[in-house]
Amino acid sequence: MREQRTKRWFNRFWRIAGAVNIRVKILGIILGLVLLMGLTVTLQVRSTLLRTMDALFEEQAVSVARDVAARSTDLILINNLYALHQLLQDTQKNNANVRYAFIVSPEGEILAHTFGSGFPQELLEANTASLDEYHHTMRLNTDEGQVWDTAVPIFDGRAGTARVGLSDVSLRRMLESITGQLLLTTVLVSVIGITAAAALTWLLTRPILQLVSAAQAVARRDFSQRVPRWADDEIGELTDAFNTMTAALAKADEERAEREALREQYVSGVISAQEEERKRIARELHDSTSQTLTSLIIGLRGLSDTCNQPDVRQRADDLRGVAGQALEEVHLLALQLRPAVLDDLGLPAAIGRFITDCQRRHKLNVDLAISGLDNHRLPPEVETALYRIIQEALTNIIRHANAETASVFIERCPGLVRAVIDDDGQGFNLETVNRQEGHLGLYGIRERTELLGGRLTIESEPGHGTSLFVEIPLAVNGGSYA
Ligand SMILES: Nc1ncnc2c1ncn2[C@@H]1O[C@H](COP(=O)(O)OP(=O)(O)OP(=O)(O)O)[C@@H](O)[C@H]1O
Ligand SMILES: [Mg+2]
Repeated sequence: MREQRTKRWFNRFWRIAGAVNIRVKILGIILGLVLLMGLTVTLQVRSTLLRTMDALFEEQAVSVARDVAARSTDLILINNLYALHQLLQDTQKNNANVRYAFIVSPEGEILAHTFGSGFPQELLEANTASLDEYHHTMRLNTDEGQVWDTAVPIFDGRAGTARVGLSDVSLRRMLESITGQLLLTTVLVSVIGITAAAALTWLLTRPILQLVSAAQAVARRDFSQRVPRWADDEIGELTDAFNTMTAALAKADEERAEREALREQYVSGVISAQEEERKRIARELHDSTSQTLTSLIIGLRGLSDTCNQPDVRQRADDLRGVAGQALEEVHLLALQLRPAVLDDLGLPAAIGRFITDCQRRHKLNVDLAISGLDNHRLPPEVETALYRIIQEALTNIIRHANAETASVFIERCPGLVRAVIDDDGQGFNLETVNRQEGHLGLYGIRERTELLGGRLTIESEPGHGTSLFVEIPLAVNGGSYA
């Protein structure tokens, strides 16, 4: 139970102490130690001085009173009150601490005193010395501080009692002055200690703070940071180890960037070669194969028109139908390979045509919404990438989603173009698909997006459809960054 409470207290203390930085901790320790030492020494010196002074003071009080008693004996016996009065006056004059002195006769009558006008009667009973005592000292509390009142019997009490009061005001004043000096010394030592500690902690923590800010820079992938070695101690060794580590990280990062650049160069080379090849084949199909098939159709129609034999005419018409179908397929193929409309009329027209074709041939309902692209063309590489991405996404929906409806949304915002393609189909498990080999469609979408410095996000869950979010940055003037 007690252990738990101690632990809780320690935890609470550490929550506060641990939260402040090292400089404050070191300064706090030094200030605490100096203050503790200063105050302890001051208190100890003060109490020792007080005890010693009290003892000396008491001795002084007794010796003065005894002296008065000794010197007043004869004067009392011959009843020389004037000389007695003089003796008391001299005693007070010679010792600054003597507050008062008076002589009391055995009958309790005041024979002489130093009070001038009136003697305070209550003082008489304040202290007495019995006949068998050498002296009797008491501390009296008065308005002017403590008074050490000593009573000494004169001539064994037969001639009366001498009473002397010594005030300790000057003693107290001296004690306060010594205490003040000691406290001032403590404050001065604290100030010097704190200044020295501040300089020392600055020296100690500077390399640590430099290491911290360099480590934060490394976390931000800035590997150019080097920390100067300040001293040949453990921190110096840590600095060396840190510098070696950042140098190794910088080298590794450079190699990685080179590899990445090479890969991007390769991939973009492959993609552009692929596009060029598709363009060439599409042109070839359009310019050559389509022309040949058109000539064939015209020839077959001519044959059918000029021939009198019905079975030959029928044959020619059938072949014309087959050639017409082949012409349509070639058109479709050319369109899929590289729609000329993409180069001529831009992305919205090409996507629109592709979607119309999908709807016609696959009975898929596709909504298309395009924003921010009226009278504005995107850079060619962005248009091609977006066209291919949407083409692959819709092909996937047709092949795998079993969806009723799909939607394509393209939006051009300041600094970026965004495309969202989603469907209400059966969805899929992304992790499973990522682990499988041989699927190139989604990989191609990602490659094309990232090559242009963009980002692809795929959201899909079995039974809940699929959404693809593509964002490609555009330079401020509308061009692509990549
Ligand atoms: N819209 C979708 N709805 C349901 N499943 C999908 C969808 N898109 C992709 N998939 C799943 O993800 C897999 C990977 O798609 P990906 O396009 O990468 O390859 P693929 O279509 O199988 O082959 P290809 O390389 O010819 O494109 C698909 O096999 C399919 O299981
Ligand atoms: Mg695919």
